[in-house]
Amino acid sequence: MAEIIWGLATSHVPAIGAAMDHHRTTDPYWKPLFDGYGPAREWMAEHRPDVVVVVYNDHANAIDLDVIPTFAIGTADHYAVADEGWGARQVPTVVGHPALSEHLVRSLVDEQFDITMLHQLEVDHGLTVPLSVYCPEPGDAWPSRVVPLLVNVIQYPQPTAERCLRLGEALGRAIRSFPEDITVAVFGTGGMSHQLAGARAGLINETFDRMFLERIETDPESLAALTREDYISQAGSEGIELIMWLVMRGALGAGLTRIHDTYHVPVSNTAAALALFQTPPARVLVGASTASAEAVGPIPSGAVGEARA
Ligand code: DHB
Ligand code: FE
Repeated sequence: MAEIIWGLATSHVPAIGAAMDHHRTTDPYWKPLFDGYGPAREWMAEHRPDVVVVVYNDHANAIDLDVIPTFAIGTADHYAVADEGWGARQVPTVVGHPALSEHLVRSLVDEQFDITMLHQLEVDHGLTVPLSVYCPEPGDAWPSRVVPLLVNVIQYPQPTAERCLRLGEALGRAIRSFPEDITVAVFGTGGMSHQLAGARAGLINETFDRMFLERIETDPESLAALTREDYISQAGSEGIELIMWLVMRGALGAGLTRIHDTYHVPVSNTAAALALFQTPPARVLVGASTASAEAVGPIPSGAVGEARA
């Protein structure tokens, strides 16, 4: 069966991708951000999953404003990189996993989440920047296949934060019921506080961001209880992208280990962050037989890597 091995929350600011593409990551402006990514990137390089499910939003690049699905899943075998107005980023084409996509769509529809299917999709900075955060030098190919899961965060009414957490829980069940023995990571992307236009353009709320970075691990239910108006008033009109982190968090479940996090201001108009969480192994060896993690009680965090290796 498929196993979720870790989850990544990360900002997707387009300038982060541009800084990498133009070799500016050691400039004084960018160095602190990329230094902050270092330990997470090293760990992820040693724990490459077969597939990453990237929970993200399109920014009216691939999906125009005539049709806005609340939740959608890409079901294609390839996703071209979108041209957002200055030429497509020179990063590899994103390779999909149609069988897993179709399984996720079916499982989520059966769990009452009415998912739009996208048989064709170009992917914008919302997906490619997180892939670059994960793997800065992919060469000719990304190291993992990708299933895009899209959330409407750009037009009212966005789904509630609670709906996103519940979708994530159902997503976790759906991934774990995929019959192939593959490893999966889930990315929650966007955030942190930011507002790109209007009277509050440039808004950053560090107190809210630090609260969110802590509770995404320890108390996601309290984040799910916030209204969309809470998100927008406290984190800015684009800060509501943070509800996508809750989809990732719901999929990961209980017993996480925080591998690394980092928070930096400013990145373009935002506060940017990364948080990386490892899940406990789905199964641990007990003598000659296997038992579920629940059946053998909590797993000491030091043993997690060993048990999986
Ligand atoms: C910026 C942030 C975003 O989340 C985005 O989608 C586009 C731009 C920015 O801060 O520049
Ligand atoms: Fe965005």
